[in-house]
Amino acid sequence: MKTEQPKAIKLQDYTPPAFLIDHVDLEFFLEPEGTRVKSLLKVRRNPDSSGPLHLDGDTLELLSIAVDGRALQEKEYLLDEFFLEVEGLPDKFELAIETRIDPVLNTRLEGLYLSGGNFCTQCEAEGFRRITFYPDRPDVMATYSVTMQADEAKYPVLLSNGNLVSQGKGEGGKHWAKWHDPFPKPCYLFALVAGDLACYADSYKTGSGRDVALKIYVQHGNEDKCAFAMDSLIRSMRWDEERFGLEYDLDIFNIVAVDDFNMGAMENKSLNIFNSKCVLASPDTATDADFERIEAIVAHEYFHNWTGNRVTCRDWFQLSLKEGLTVYRDQEFSSDMRSAPVKRIQDVRTLRARQFPEDAGPLSHPIRPESYIEINNFYTATVYEKGAEVIRMMQEILGREGFRKGIDLYFERHDNQAVTCEDFVAAMEDANGVDLEHFRLWYSQAGTPDVAVTWEYDAASSLFTFKLSQHTADTPGQHNKQPLHIPLTIGLLGQDGQDIPLIQQGTNSGDRTYSKTLRFDCEQQNFSFTDVPPGAVPSINRGFSAPVKLSAMYSDDELLFLMENDSDLFNRWEAAQSSATRLILKMIGEIQSGREPQYVSGFARALASNMANPDLDPAFVAQLMTLPSISYISEQMQVADFDAAEKARSFFKHAIATELCGSLKALYQQGVAGTAYSPDAASMGRRALRNAAMDYLATFEDDRDCRELVVRHYETADNMTDRMAALALLNDFSGAEREVALAAFEQRYQQDPVVMDKWFMVQACSRLPDVLQRIKKLTSHPGFSYKNPNKVRALVGAFASANPVRFHAEDGEGYRFLADNIIHMNAINPQVASRILAPLGGWRRMNPKHQKMMKSELKRILATEKLSGDVYEMASKSLG
Ligand code: ARG
Ligand code: ZN
Repeated sequence: MKTEQPKAIKLQDYTPPAFLIDHVDLEFFLEPEGTRVKSLLKVRRNPDSSGPLHLDGDTLELLSIAVDGRALQEKEYLLDEFFLEVEGLPDKFELAIETRIDPVLNTRLEGLYLSGGNFCTQCEAEGFRRITFYPDRPDVMATYSVTMQADEAKYPVLLSNGNLVSQGKGEGGKHWAKWHDPFPKPCYLFALVAGDLACYADSYKTGSGRDVALKIYVQHGNEDKCAFAMDSLIRSMRWDEERFGLEYDLDIFNIVAVDDFNMGAMENKSLNIFNSKCVLASPDTATDADFERIEAIVAHEYFHNWTGNRVTCRDWFQLSLKEGLTVYRDQEFSSDMRSAPVKRIQDVRTLRARQFPEDAGPLSHPIRPESYIEINNFYTATVYEKGAEVIRMMQEILGREGFRKGIDLYFERHDNQAVTCEDFVAAMEDANGVDLEHFRLWYSQAGTPDVAVTWEYDAASSLFTFKLSQHTADTPGQHNKQPLHIPLTIGLLGQDGQDIPLIQQGTNSGDRTYSKTLRFDCEQQNFSFTDVPPGAVPSINRGFSAPVKLSAMYSDDELLFLMENDSDLFNRWEAAQSSATRLILKMIGEIQSGREPQYVSGFARALASNMANPDLDPAFVAQLMTLPSISYISEQMQVADFDAAEKARSFFKHAIATELCGSLKALYQQGVAGTAYSPDAASMGRRALRNAAMDYLATFEDDRDCRELVVRHYETADNMTDRMAALALLNDFSGAEREVALAAFEQRYQQDPVVMDKWFMVQACSRLPDVLQRIKKLTSHPGFSYKNPNKVRALVGAFASANPVRFHAEDGEGYRFLADNIIHMNAINPQVASRILAPLGGWRRMNPKHQKMMKSELKRILATEKLSGDVYEMASKSLG
């Protein structure tokens, strides 16, 4: 029984390590039950610091410890459950430690574990302490030599970081390999893989002529699903040279795909380990969204080699230093590979779906948190996605060139160091001779700012004035927020729909610009523009230059005007979203008061004009057609009502489909023209548009032709994108078509766990009333396992986070099911348990009855025996 509550770790308590490690020599004798790990550390006292040698350790069996060859007696060190301390050490010495670990019992998937019978590791954030005693903190950087010995027949492939130094055969069918990584690194970047794996190989020549061997290791039989990840890797390597002048620094780059993985992927130096769903793709198994995600994650992990590995974090509070920056970099990469506006729209959708709610709820924290109980709980949308937005704003303020100068200086100053967010901002300032003092507040202040915009026009002087005000609501532990420095990009559209040149009052601007980034840094501020003709309509926060919630005094017609005319495609989409949200919210009000929802057709007409515009990218039009989600709409309500939101949204969609039926059918037909599948941006766009049209047509659920259209779409699909698009629709149909399609899908893909995740997930998201019964049954399906994080996320996680209507069912069964599963997972894998908990924290936005049910489930979770720090932190903060 747990008596003590886990303690919070605070940024303000940071102290440098008492000892530094120059070199680590590791030897592994790999056995599933009982792996011996010998570690030989070259240790030296940190001149800046005092105190004993503190080594972290977790679930380790200590076999021996020796200083400079002399074995220590038990009374010479202090061994606690989570650390080992030694006092009275010389300033420089060699420490030899031998431990024993049990990879086969490691269901937490942190440290050394088995996936599909192969050994692999995950050390970020604090998994290395589950391998050997070590100062498990990122500001201790060392070079590594790693020797592994294992059964050759079972584990023919032996990999670690850096270069292969030597290999050979041992006794009793064993073989060994020795690797050396010349770059000093923190232990969270250590990795090891031993297994029976197939290899997909290619190579890359860097700008300065280094030949790099590229290898992707996968389970046998998956070699034909590696080509796209490899191509993404090569394009990432080239892009980072061109855009940031950053070249790869070793002769080998390896990627290993494993089925059991807590997150997406991990940037271990030269040995990236990936969740197999973020690597494997073929047209028959992966959707276009999967291809895009694989491209982005391969790039992300590769980009970490500089932003994360060569320059790393001083402590985990600085996580956004590497994650925000690297997300920004992968976003820029994808945006260059594909359509920039579409990429921006997708990223903002993600930000709004995941980060805005987080920042408005009980788990709100700044991108540089000030305290945590379990750092794994801080790999959040805030640290990652809002972190990337903060980097993007700096780029917006400094311009592309200025930003590049800052990046160059950052590497010039900090290569091979463990640094802070502050060091990054200082490099940006110094390289550009600017002051970002006020801007820094984005690092420490949580919450999404609300920005309200009104405007005035003075016809006599042709003066157009923006009146801006900002406010950030209190968040847990943070009150009385300060105004932020917000770079707000704006434009003005004339009555003809064309951009008006911007001449800001009080500035002598010779250049004609059509978009301008305002420095908005007080609570209230006005900006005036001269020579503006009458009837101008402002376009605000173009390209989503700042991650804020905007309310502007647009009339309904002005929104439709922007939707049809804004040259900034992001804002054209934004106008469509705002307009649809407004209309749906009105319908919700009507439904709630028992009236028939009223439909107005202006939105459909504006949509139609975009659909008919041949100059627009089909991928963009598909985005424009995608209405805001039920969750997003509900967040705009005082008290969430998912049922009403669902009804209103469906009603609206059906009404649009009725009005635009002809053009939707035409769009759908045009898309048929059979070309071979290709994952390039243009082909993806064509598929997206056709599937968006089908999505509307499927609202005629009672029409036999339309049902047949979806069934035919499913049956004739020659790629996973089309197949899933149809399956997602059939999944909400109440007839036999649904069962037939699901059974066919299962039959076809039951051997492929990555694809089966889709099968579980689509069912978890069904709107049909008996969905929870089905989900419960699926937990005993042979393809499901609580030990596999992907499966738990696909079935349990998706139900709670992506099926709000059923999760919030009247009887509270949805909540109970989630809590039962969290309690069950707590004992198996606390990280996964804690990551599916957040939906229960949404109780504040529910009606009193649901609030009570949700809170009682949180209390039940908190009363669990042997509750992990991970779940304790999330549940207690969620309860508030
Ligand atoms: N650094 C990895 C990435 O962003 C994430 C790994 C985090 N893993 C964890 N268990 N916290 O690419
Ligand atoms: Zn990352």
